[in-house]
Amino acid sequence: QTIRREDYRAPAHLIDEVRLEFDLDAESTAVVNTMHVRPNPAANGQDASLFLDGEDLTLVSVALDGKPLDESRYTLSQEGLLIRDIREPATVTIVNRFSPAANTALSGIYVSGQTLISQCEAQGFRRITFYMDRPDVLAKFTTVIRASKETFPVLLSNGNAGEAKDLEDGRHEVTFVDPFPKPSYLFALVAGQLVCREEKFRLKDGRLANLSVWVEPQDLDKTEHTLESLKKAIRWDEERWGLELDLDDFKIVATKDFNFGAMENKGLNIFNSKCALANPNVATDEDYFHIESVVGHEYFHNWTGDRITLRDWFQLTLKEGLTVFRDQEFSADMLGEPSARAVQRIKDVISLRAAQFPEDASPMAHPIRPDSYQEINNFYTMTVYEKGAEVIRMLQTLLGRDTFRKGFDEYIAKNDGSAVTCEAFLEAMTSVSKRDLRQFKRWFSQAGTPRVKVRSNWNEEEKKLTLSVSQTTPSTPGQPVKQPFLMPFPVALLNGDGIEMPVKLEGESGAGVAGTRMLELTENSQEFVFVDLAEKPILSLNRGFAAPIILDAGLTREERLFLAARDGDPFNRWDAMNGLLIEAVRDETRARLLHEPHDIDPRLLETVGAILKDESLSPAFKAVALAMPTEKIVSETLPVIDPHAVHAAWVAVRNAIAKRNLSAFMEAAEKNVTPGEYDPSAEPAGKRALKNLALGYAIAAGNARATILVKDQFTTATNLTDKLAALRLMVNSQTPAKEDMEVDALKAWAGEPLLLNKWLQIQSTASSFAGESLVLERVRELVRCDFFSIRNPNNVYSLLMPFFTANPAEFHLPDGSGYAFWAEMVLELNRINPQVASRVARALENWRRYVSPLASRMHDALESVYARREELSPNVLEIIEKSLNN
Ligand code: ARG
Ligand code: ZN
Repeated sequence: QTIRREDYRAPAHLIDEVRLEFDLDAESTAVVNTMHVRPNPAANGQDASLFLDGEDLTLVSVALDGKPLDESRYTLSQEGLLIRDIREPATVTIVNRFSPAANTALSGIYVSGQTLISQCEAQGFRRITFYMDRPDVLAKFTTVIRASKETFPVLLSNGNAGEAKDLEDGRHEVTFVDPFPKPSYLFALVAGQLVCREEKFRLKDGRLANLSVWVEPQDLDKTEHTLESLKKAIRWDEERWGLELDLDDFKIVATKDFNFGAMENKGLNIFNSKCALANPNVATDEDYFHIESVVGHEYFHNWTGDRITLRDWFQLTLKEGLTVFRDQEFSADMLGEPSARAVQRIKDVISLRAAQFPEDASPMAHPIRPDSYQEINNFYTMTVYEKGAEVIRMLQTLLGRDTFRKGFDEYIAKNDGSAVTCEAFLEAMTSVSKRDLRQFKRWFSQAGTPRVKVRSNWNEEEKKLTLSVSQTTPSTPGQPVKQPFLMPFPVALLNGDGIEMPVKLEGESGAGVAGTRMLELTENSQEFVFVDLAEKPILSLNRGFAAPIILDAGLTREERLFLAARDGDPFNRWDAMNGLLIEAVRDETRARLLHEPHDIDPRLLETVGAILKDESLSPAFKAVALAMPTEKIVSETLPVIDPHAVHAAWVAVRNAIAKRNLSAFMEAAEKNVTPGEYDPSAEPAGKRALKNLALGYAIAAGNARATILVKDQFTTATNLTDKLAALRLMVNSQTPAKEDMEVDALKAWAGEPLLLNKWLQIQSTASSFAGESLVLERVRELVRCDFFSIRNPNNVYSLLMPFFTANPAEFHLPDGSGYAFWAEMVLELNRINPQVASRVARALENWRRYVSPLASRMHDALESVYARREELSPNVLEIIEKSLNN
């Protein structure tokens, strides 16, 4: 069933206040739900029926204004409860039950170990009680929780804890009052044997807030970084955006059973433990960094999401794109130093290209604000989140930071307390900037990644340069033709020394200004004429990746080598290098398919050495600039994907780089060790990244000393980054010691889920040697091991997902056995957890882009799942249908 954005109707009723009384029990929980309901004046009484969503609930009783309601007044269905004739304000009281223990979907209230955890976004609240489970119904919540004091000593919900008291039979009761009206998706409840790290934190306005991080006792030693990150986030939101914490209590809970990263429930954020827990033994440098950004993200939702929420789920990017943008800015500000910030921007763009661009080119392609969906949970995508953040970033670039900030302030001031659409944000920006943003708004409605093509013409006599710029966006499902976008397009013209030349457009008076010049693209094709240039410039285009596009700059290899060596914009310097590496693998792939001899451009191999030795570059930058682009990224740039050809070419290019620069890599490996106490901050983390990258190349070059260093690193490392890097390098090498190391690591790590998951991921992303394909068998074996549970999303995301999406050479076996395994797993997950299942199901959506025997085997696997459509959840069905029908 398809839901369309244009079909939005205001709710027939509103709920002003709700009181929920829980009698918690893992097997069967009872809820008494008392709602103060009234007809919505904005709906003009067209519909007097009150519809309350409900899913997998047992209804016990319904009362209206305290009196049992006659059965003729209501109808119960699979979707919920319809109560007829509510024309006046009324009190509706519902009693229902549900079973947390039977809830394997991890939506609603479920069991994790000994703890009860809730997850309501997007539509989990209807699995707790009958309610108007839509984001535009905002109510004040009072939550009373009763439970066994022994089993559930800690009881948490949104808002302020009121009275707590002991009851008979070893039970106790706590009442929470949340002063802020909120939609049901922000409701949260946690009960368990938890402990906390807490701290009183002084807010800017002088109030003291009580911050706490709640975990199971064995995890208390992993909460310091979480609390520190929260304090930084609170301070940053005050300073950068003038937004303050509006609560006296702010709580974070971590759980190992969670469908995604984290959730911004009002005042009670719930996190997947992999996004919240850290200490030097269980978290890598990247984990530390990621945790800070996710803690920030969820905290920032308190304003962009909670105080200002969504009218309907189509508007999801209004809170997610904006909040990702905010968390990216937070992370950048925490890094401070420009080169570290640039590295972060580079990493964000790598993930956009690796995951969002393919989505934009897939049967699931959708604008950041979709027009329709079957299952909203399938639309928590890279497009809505990451491309959404790019769109907000473009606005800041176009309007300038100050105007953007004024627009943001206006957005907050005007919409606080309401449930709005994306228009609200654009209207605020329009009003402060006085710019017409109607063309810009196409970014919200058109899917697909724009291609921008630039051709330049140098006129030596007149010393002028003409740039011809054209943009096109490929058609996507339901959108055959696209209109041109408005996008920022910062450009610099570099002289032969790499210095930015003064820039002056034809018709402009005065002298040109040196530096980056902001152009705006608005037409299908446009020309820009630069005059009074001293020499023929080299172009540095779309600096900083201002617009999320695929750029064909029309540069020669010579020019791109120049940019890789000289561009002063670190993003573009990286991009030039990365593009050359991608091109090398692509050329090698083609040559191999055509059985033509091919040599990697020696100038590229030399540039690698030059970057390695460049004293002006940070180790972190060198690590991203010299990292091989993944096979997936390379494949994205090919018209037809042949994973085995790409893999062989990738290995050949990597080995050639390694051999040519072996001594420089060994030197970098030895120079960038980080002895002493572990410090996860950007500088030492950058050193470790470069050292481990260099060791990888050195091992690829067959260097024996590198192998010894890596083995040694595995046993002596005092931080997980180095330990894990060493293990990964050994697992992917042919050293005889590798099996012992794998077993040692497993023995040491099996008791800690965070570490076990890392171990699983190394296994599923490993390579086999000597033409054997062993990883599939290995993964199949691991699925059956008792330390793997298919019910645990993190286990699935560590073992199965990376195998299906990040190990192309091992997954895409010519006989289709990898796909058959995928189909088995999708069907099994579908019965257990539809949200996790549909994520896994997406692994084959781009089947049409593969070489012919693989494409048809992928198609067969999709068909085999589709043949069981009667059993499929709406989540998985939508993915399979879209994959097949496009
Ligand atoms: N709002 C949460 C976050 O970004 C994610 C919720 C995901 N929900 C879902 N149904 N996929 O920050
Ligand atoms: Zn979010």
